[in-house]
Amino acid sequence: MSTRERRILVIGMGAGDPDHLTLAAVKAMRRAEVFFVLGKGREKESLTRLRRDILDEHLSGPYRIVEAADPWRDREQEDRAGYTSAVHDWRRRRADVCERLIREELAPGGTGAFLVWGDPALYDSTLAVLEDIRARGTVDFDHEVVPGISSVSALAARHRITLNRVGRPVRLTPGRRLAEDFPNDDGDLVVMLDAQEAYTRLTGEGVWIYWGAYLGTPDEILVVGPLDEVAERITRLRAEARARHGWIMDTYLLRLQPEGGEG
Ligand SMILES: C[S@@+](CC[C@H](N)C(=O)[O-])C[C@H]1O[C@@H](n2cnc3c(N)ncnc32)[C@H](O)[C@@H]1O
Repeated sequence: MSTRERRILVIGMGAGDPDHLTLAAVKAMRRAEVFFVLGKGREKESLTRLRRDILDEHLSGPYRIVEAADPWRDREQEDRAGYTSAVHDWRRRRADVCERLIREELAPGGTGAFLVWGDPALYDSTLAVLEDIRARGTVDFDHEVVPGISSVSALAARHRITLNRVGRPVRLTPGRRLAEDFPNDDGDLVVMLDAQEAYTRLTGEGVWIYWGAYLGTPDEILVVGPLDEVAERITRLRAEARARHGWIMDTYLLRLQPEGGEG
């Protein structure tokens, strides 16, 4: 790498609990002079505040935060092809914004960072966006990834469970794919990004759910039990919490035979 090349750090910051920041993440944060933040609405406000709190706690020197609005995204596409193309389109526009941030807000030879919610390897567009910008060849930079504690790890820890049972698979799926992915052979399913309350369509199947919202934050809510018995409670809690905060993030594990043990 030439000394004039910009360096971008993609730092997993955990999914809510500031104590889930790893030592590697703290060391990486201390190398950056500017932090790029994309977001919108009330969710953005809460997450930006959390990022600032984390930076203030761990950095003693001066740093800059540069915020930009997250581009509009088409959320109306129902079928898989439409959804995938809407996400690609959104990522392209995100890449336009990030390309400008890197070029205009980070001097050649400098180090900038994206603080990514949870782990950058899990349902996050930052790495794809950076690859897109690199492929354009319009701004020269190199990037590094620092893993973070994901909401899935936080969910398992708070429920004191393993995600898989002995020698069995576990699959991660977005809520919109749940109907297709259930049941997962003899394995378990972790569901993220479920805006449609897809779990409500699986009652009567003998499934257990381990559910968590706002994991790692003071607003955390946990529910565990047979889906038939707890689904309505989860739906009510989701609605109340969403009304209170203006947004919700929840994750859950679906397990066919909860007594299976860990592996
Ligand atoms: C865009 S994905 C980001 C995932 C993130 N990279 C991670 O490693 O957890 C957002 C989804 O992650 C899950 N999620 C993130 N933070 C969460 C939290 N604190 N509590 C519960 N679920 C969370 C939710 O399923 C949410 O819809």
